[in-house]
Amino acid sequence: MFRVSLSARSAVVAALSLLLTRLSCSSLSVPDIPQIAAYFGTKTRYEEVNPHLLRDSLSVNASVLRPPPTERCSPVHLTAVIRHGSRYPTVKNIRRIVKLSELVRRESSRSSGGSEGWLRELQSRWEMWYTEDMDGQLVAKGREDLHQLARRLAALFPSLLSEENVRARRIRLVTSSKHRCVSSVEAFQEGLRQQWGQHEVDYSHVVDDELMRFFEHCRGYVEGVENNRTALLEVEKFKRGEEMEAVRRKMAERLGLPQHRLTPDLVEAAFFLCSYELSIKSLHSPWCFLFNESDAKVLEYKSDLKQYWKRSYGHAISGLSSCPLFHHLFRTLDKAGRPRRSTEASPEPASILVGHAETLLPLLSLLGLHKDKTPPTANNYQSQYGRTFRTSRITPYAANLLFVLYDCQRGPRLQLLINESPVRFPGLETEDVPLYRDVRALYRHLLDGCDFHRECEGRTGGRAPNTEL
Ligand SMILES: *[C@@H]1O[C@H](CO)[C@@H](O)[C@H](O)[C@H]1NC(C)=O
Ligand SMILES: *[C@@H]1O[C@H](CO)[C@@H](O)[C@H](O)[C@H]1NC(C)=O
Ligand SMILES: *[C@@H]1O[C@H](CO)[C@@H](O)[C@H](O)[C@H]1NC(C)=O
Repeated sequence: MFRVSLSARSAVVAALSLLLTRLSCSSLSVPDIPQIAAYFGTKTRYEEVNPHLLRDSLSVNASVLRPPPTERCSPVHLTAVIRHGSRYPTVKNIRRIVKLSELVRRESSRSSGGSEGWLRELQSRWEMWYTEDMDGQLVAKGREDLHQLARRLAALFPSLLSEENVRARRIRLVTSSKHRCVSSVEAFQEGLRQQWGQHEVDYSHVVDDELMRFFEHCRGYVEGVENNRTALLEVEKFKRGEEMEAVRRKMAERLGLPQHRLTPDLVEAAFFLCSYELSIKSLHSPWCFLFNESDAKVLEYKSDLKQYWKRSYGHAISGLSSCPLFHHLFRTLDKAGRPRRSTEASPEPASILVGHAETLLPLLSLLGLHKDKTPPTANNYQSQYGRTFRTSRITPYAANLLFVLYDCQRGPRLQLLINESPVRFPGLETEDVPLYRDVRALYRHLLDGCDFHRECEGRTGGRAPNTEL
């Protein structure tokens, strides 16, 4: 009966001694990482997607840029849509964590502490430290996320995010008004300055919620999804389905809690605690040992279901609500790719747009990326094993979608990267960097349509003001 707790404890001891060995061998040691770290959905660290950054957070590999070598291409513009970095839990999750920690405290003083003393173990090795005022704010690690991303992008695009362009403030910077995004865009600017050895940073970003938080300005979305009680039915069903039940039963047994006390929300709170302690403090929290990789995949699926039905293909209006951002992007690219006389000013070298997972996911679905043949539902967990819609991979903290426009002999070309890895446009799969005019042809129907007011206000007709917003 002691097997599990011993293995958990010995895992910690083993990890610690491994860490110490590594520390003594090299200064480039990688700290102990929970086995379930790659399954935290939108609460995943960027390093889980790009593990080489754990060794060198500034390393870039220019081979990800793949314009045809025979066409003598040079990059002329970069648009980056970036999610804020690691953050504290929001109030909703902090309240769940409080509930969970109270349950653990109460039960551990009352009972034997579960089948193997798990409750006492948690009680002695972990202390509640989250407070409601932290509400979703960027943490120090989150500033680092953006700082380092800026430096890597500057190294990857030295002619665009150049010292001169940074100094002359030629780079456009736009952010959502949320505190975590404003802090992120500041950190990005500090990173750029530091890359070029400049000391004073005078921030030059603008706040634009119509662009970066379009979802809350789209009535069709707010009414059809956000306030629609049945929009997330699949998520509710899965929460009570057999896979989640098995995870809940196991956790309740381990902790020696009556099953009805441990709601699916509290199971998730424990899982998220593991994620927060890793992303905020780089700690391998004792909460992590409650889950193995199979459990984590079930909880990841639950998060993916939510994002799919709330922010992506589940409802077409989610993608369409991002039309303003879509048009903004293509207007910027059109301008940057237009032929110029040598006397004209050079085009805007880069546009940095900082927002949320809720900004990126609708845009990605409008563009047709990460779309699987079968939608994920409460009943097809098993067959969704190899799905491409995995938010742990797509929208970790500091997730980014990069549009790189090149000037080439045959005309402008466009490359797309997600989290610094090349991705091909759906429908143009034969090329990493297709001609820009082929990309425009691919999205012709959206370039000619995708009207925010029609899509978002359509049902009631006209351009009614968003009074309830
Ligand atoms: C860069 O990435 C390519 C694959 O895209 C790989 O073959 C190469 O080894 C990498 N170079 C370095 C220095 O990591
Ligand atoms: C609410 O969501 C359900 C399920 O996706 C959908 O069938 C229904 O049309 C939505 N209701 C509204 C008012 O959009
Ligand atoms: C996780 O635990 C369950 C039993 O609770 C077991 O069936 C499963 O095989 C385990 N998965 C891994 C990857 O160890």
